[in-house]
Amino acid sequence: MIRLASFTIRGFTVKLLLDSKVYRPSYTTKLIAESLPDLSGLYVLDLGTGSGILSIIASMLGARKIIATDISRRALKNASENLKYNNIDNVELRLGDLYEPVYGESFDVIISNPPMTPSPTPLPSYTWGGVDGRRILDAVIKNSVNYLKSNGRLIIPTISIVGIEKTSSLLRDLGFKVKVLGYGYHSFGRILLKLKEHIDRLPSAEYFYDVYGRPCWRLVVYEASVR
Ligand SMILES: C[S@@+](CC[C@H](N)C(=O)[O-])C[C@H]1O[C@@H](n2cnc3c(N)ncnc32)[C@H](O)[C@@H]1O
Repeated sequence: MIRLASFTIRGFTVKLLLDSKVYRPSYTTKLIAESLPDLSGLYVLDLGTGSGILSIIASMLGARKIIATDISRRALKNASENLKYNNIDNVELRLGDLYEPVYGESFDVIISNPPMTPSPTPLPSYTWGGVDGRRILDAVIKNSVNYLKSNGRLIIPTISIVGIEKTSSLLRDLGFKVKVLGYGYHSFGRILLKLKEHIDRLPSAEYFYDVYGRPCWRLVVYEASVR
């Protein structure tokens, strides 16, 4: 089923056709979008574009050209519709796993919001991050060094149920200079509430209870710069 939505981010209005089989822009998506730096004239990779929203915002923030990839054909179809809907003409869509569609290229900025839901059993690929939630996240981070220009930057979120400290340590171990661009928190949704016992067993997972007694995850958006 297709629904329409409109988001105002950084003073820009983005209109989206939402496909129920494609990741719907979330709290994390919006915090990344709010945190993006000026991208004037830059060559950008949006890895795992979903609806295309971060590519649309990157274009509005001045990026010269954006390559938007996804492992899902359906997501790319939805992104293509949304690019047209917002009159964006400097985004190229490519199908494939992780960095495979951009093999041999290098970017000024890589933006990614990887699936991070930790689950012992598979979930839809737009949300499943493997048993500990880090399967795609770690692969995006570890391989980013091969796809960034010498002064390039990786913009990547992490939620506390997959280990915020783990991400900052990994980025530093890879030689990145790390800065926090955005911070927030959100209560567990229906799927995470069902997974709570599993999450409680994960050594790096961490969450807190708000004043209403709801479990909440924290979220950090990192900017990792090549030194
Ligand atoms: C959490 S969604 C984020 C979508 C969008 N960037 C946003 O922030 O709203 C993750 C996206 O990554 C895609 N994805 C999952 N595994 C992938 C992989 N191995 N390679 C490329 N894309 C992948 C999913 O299909 C999904 O569209």
